[in-house]
Amino acid sequence: MRSDLKNMRLKLVEYLSCPNCSTDLSLEVLVKEGEEILTGLLFCEKGHTFPITGGIPRMLPSSLAEYSHKILDSIPPEREPELEELIKKVKACSPDEDYDIGTRKNFSNEWDNHDIGGRTWAMELEDRVKWFFLDSIRIPEPELDGKMMLDAGCGNGSQSVAYTKFGLEVIALDLSSGLEKGYEFRDRYESGAPSRVHFVQADLQNPPLKKGLFDIIHSAGVLHHTPNTERTFRALTPLLKESGTFYVWLYKYEAVVTPIVNSLRAITTRIPQGLFAQIAQIGSVPFIGFCWLVDKLGIRKYEIPDRREAVIAVHDIFGAPYAHYHSFDEVVDWFHSEGMLEVWPCNDDRRGFGVCGR
Ligand SMILES: C[S@@+](CC[C@H](N)C(=O)[O-])C[C@H]1O[C@@H](n2cnc3c(N)ncnc32)[C@H](O)[C@@H]1O
Ligand SMILES: [Zn+2]
Repeated sequence: MRSDLKNMRLKLVEYLSCPNCSTDLSLEVLVKEGEEILTGLLFCEKGHTFPITGGIPRMLPSSLAEYSHKILDSIPPEREPELEELIKKVKACSPDEDYDIGTRKNFSNEWDNHDIGGRTWAMELEDRVKWFFLDSIRIPEPELDGKMMLDAGCGNGSQSVAYTKFGLEVIALDLSSGLEKGYEFRDRYESGAPSRVHFVQADLQNPPLKKGLFDIIHSAGVLHHTPNTERTFRALTPLLKESGTFYVWLYKYEAVVTPIVNSLRAITTRIPQGLFAQIAQIGSVPFIGFCWLVDKLGIRKYEIPDRREAVIAVHDIFGAPYAHYHSFDEVVDWFHSEGMLEVWPCNDDRRGFGVCGR
């Protein structure tokens, strides 16, 4: 397994391209542990530079500025002047913070509460894999072996790791630091293959990936948290192979609940993320109480979340800067207009719905 890892990491470089100019990338390895590249630099043909830290390529516009100290801490002293010079140059022409720092901070704080590999969205990991993936994509399990998959907005990354047990090779992409949890989980998930999952920190609106790479793009509960759901959907479709399968799960509009949530969001999304993270810890208690009451009164069947799950839900519902609601018909039109002939409804529940197309 270990000797596989190097190949896999090198292979990942072949899958990536520059998010700014779409040219190919070359890799400079700075720190390796065994066969695995922990720290390094990726250069595009036009000189845009992105760091790899903690084994994860960081492909956001501000990544080099953000992680420069980590790069400098981990290189041999004789290379420091040269790299400091490079970092200075790159910092001068790249922003210190990303445009969508609010989304990034909210979800990074959200996933700090995830108990690695544990329950989220009121489901155990295996149930999430079944509900969001196996039951939806209409590909028989034995045919998944060897396919390339993009987990677009992988969150805590545990599902991305679990998908490898079907023989899939998975690129797990997210804006937040949640994917660091997934990276850790690679080695802990016994039926998975750590060398077949690659975590990449990047923006789905501008994905640093080669076109026509994926057999499956899977995006659960993500695109509605970007500034424009449809635009992000269309930014991803070129990554699909001609016969590829695209799955999305999106929020739906609920007649009573959505207006109430939205009027609260008008206040909660204005709270600075650091403070909101503290409020979410306290707010998780009435949230659990609310779920319990609604369930007991028989208004709706609610799984009662534990404290960590409730904090995650509070971040998701009240902290995310963008939350758009869509209808099944509207999303089916997007699929058709992208040339997908076969489109079907999948896991529909009270909060949202899945659509899959090929
Ligand atoms: C509700 S979580 C869903 C995570 C995961 N798919 C799941 O089912 O548990 C939404 C995720 O989308 C990510 N996200 C939002 N906007 C993004 C963007 N523009 N690029 C990449 N990831 C993004 C967030 O960081 C967050 O982890
Ligand atoms: Zn470039």
